[in-house]
Amino acid sequence: MTKPHSEIDVLLNEQRTFKPPTAFADAAHVNDQTPYDQAALDREAYWENWARELDWFEPWQRVLEWNPPFAKWFVGGKLNAAHNCLDRHLDTIGDKQALIWEGEPGDTRTFTYRELHSEVSRFANALKALGVAKGDRVAIYLPMIPEAVIAMLACARIGAPHSVVFGGFSPQSLHDRIEDAHAKCVITADGGYRRGTVIPLKASTDAAIVGLDFVSTVVVVQRGAATDIGAAPHGEAIEIPSCEMQAGRDHWYHEIVAAASADCPPESMDSEDLLYLLYTSGTTGNPKGVMHTTGGYMTQVAATAKWVFDLKDDDVFWCTADVGWVTGHSYIVYGPLANGATVFMYEGGPDWPDRGRFWELVERYGTTIFYTAPTAIRAFMKWGDQWPAKYDLSCIRLLGSVGEPINPEAWIWYNKTIGHERCPIIDTWWQTETGGMMLTPLPGATTTKPGSVTFGFPGIDATILDEEGQPAESGYLAITTPWPAMLRGIWGDEARYRETYWSKWPDIYFPGDGARIDKDGYLWIMGRVDDVLNVAGHRIGTMEVESALVDHPAVAEAAVVGRADDIKGQAVAAFVSVVEGIETTDELREEIRSHVATQIGAIARPADLIFAAELPKTRSGKIMRRLLRDVAEGRALGDTTTLADPAVVQGLQQQYADSEG
Ligand code: WTA
Repeated sequence: MTKPHSEIDVLLNEQRTFKPPTAFADAAHVNDQTPYDQAALDREAYWENWARELDWFEPWQRVLEWNPPFAKWFVGGKLNAAHNCLDRHLDTIGDKQALIWEGEPGDTRTFTYRELHSEVSRFANALKALGVAKGDRVAIYLPMIPEAVIAMLACARIGAPHSVVFGGFSPQSLHDRIEDAHAKCVITADGGYRRGTVIPLKASTDAAIVGLDFVSTVVVVQRGAATDIGAAPHGEAIEIPSCEMQAGRDHWYHEIVAAASADCPPESMDSEDLLYLLYTSGTTGNPKGVMHTTGGYMTQVAATAKWVFDLKDDDVFWCTADVGWVTGHSYIVYGPLANGATVFMYEGGPDWPDRGRFWELVERYGTTIFYTAPTAIRAFMKWGDQWPAKYDLSCIRLLGSVGEPINPEAWIWYNKTIGHERCPIIDTWWQTETGGMMLTPLPGATTTKPGSVTFGFPGIDATILDEEGQPAESGYLAITTPWPAMLRGIWGDEARYRETYWSKWPDIYFPGDGARIDKDGYLWIMGRVDDVLNVAGHRIGTMEVESALVDHPAVAEAAVVGRADDIKGQAVAAFVSVVEGIETTDELREEIRSHVATQIGAIARPADLIFAAELPKTRSGKIMRRLLRDVAEGRALGDTTTLADPAVVQGLQQQYADSEG
């Protein structure tokens, strides 16, 4: 898989330049200043210009109120996110395609802006009729179907913050998120398709809400209600089993929407009203509810979608993320729709029915902008060039990457094999917490280097600091000024907000990533420096996996580390010591791995599970994860002098080698 290094070196040194897109050139030419200059001169005026591109019901009085670590943007302004994504486009592009969708079986649906507006308004009215009011939290647990977008926008329309939970999470994970947000309504589906199997989301929802008496309403989308799955090209897909509906609590989506009016004026929301919660993993405790508000978030996601993707009227934009992650929130829904773009959305797996599915979709729908994760790119590389070669990819004009560091090999393959060396490669660094893109090239303006995220978006101030907060060539990534889409806090846990992001240096945001800066000022992200793993672009807390492991009755103690993986970036490696007297069999290993998947979701299932007689600890009893990482990655052991019993870790190395063999 690895290309000869000389070729990479050549490309690393190559000066790549692209013609500036119009939007960029227009903005850039004010007094011969670039947007970077403008933002540096007056950051608030710069962001205010972006905010003016949205529709506001009432203007703001102040651009920014910064009482570290709390920011308010566009203070006093009133707007509605759904209005900005739909209503304001009706007079101009009402008949343009807003959403083009294909299900895994090959069934399709499309919505013009007018149709999407009408569907969202109906569902918003239906939610209101069910008692969902402004400020109520609504959990959304759906497959990648149009109703996921519709549900998010319907919530935004009535001012009910949504909390989307990735459909691959377990009932237990869903339970925890519903409980923490105290959501009274859950929107789910009877099922969805993934790699030819049915994901039974309603059954999981039923299990998740046992004991949560405050959940008074469950809306169920019937996956097959709007299309003829049986007649679809891959419609041999197995049928979705019928699900139990609890009278009084459960409602079919298609029934309540059919009965609702399409006239639903959008709620006037304060710029700082909560738009959504999105749970993400941290170093300690349960996943935390990251809070995003309306005005600043919409401003930044609209601005970044417009410039980073260089959106044009006739683009067909495909972001392959699931709406359950922040990438789906900001760049399937809010960013592109605020710009009036045509969004393509696909339900299923990239290798179903074969490994050419994505490229077949690109060709058939004429995708012009394609945004995916390095894990997917590395998987495509491994599957071989013959798959993309079968299809005409000449429609693609821009390629994006997000979610994990992209290795130069994958960057170069993406550029060559998918982009045919015609397309800018845009590597974007950001987080659930940042809401929108932060570090990214601007296509047409930035000379890129394979593997570097280049620079901060204009108006974003990023730098590298050491532990003491001094500038460093290699150290921690730091964001030194507030930005519009920044998280406003952690739901119900102000202390954790302060501690996690603002305690390393005074009034400077700590994202938790290691990074370096090269002689040309380019930023290179090295990965997480905390106990958060990034497996296939998904954030997983080591603590969460450890809790799931020790929850198994046979497990006495567990430690989890991330080890390097060729495709997924990192893989979960678990070290487990069992309760005395229990035999460590292969069956038990599988049972414990599955237990983690059942507790959290398949993404957290340990790739390696090593039974250890003992875990390596310091004399004060702290597990030495650094050594476990050495063991898992087959390296010579680092400093072992602080170990209570050095023999323990040598034994582990042997066990690891045996289990691999
Ligand atoms: C990592 C996803 C390198 C990083 C949008 C960050 C990246 C975490 C990149 C956030 C990138 C994201 N290069 N690393 N282009 N993009 N990351 O919250 O470690 O799911 O802290 O948001 O992913 O993951 P999250």
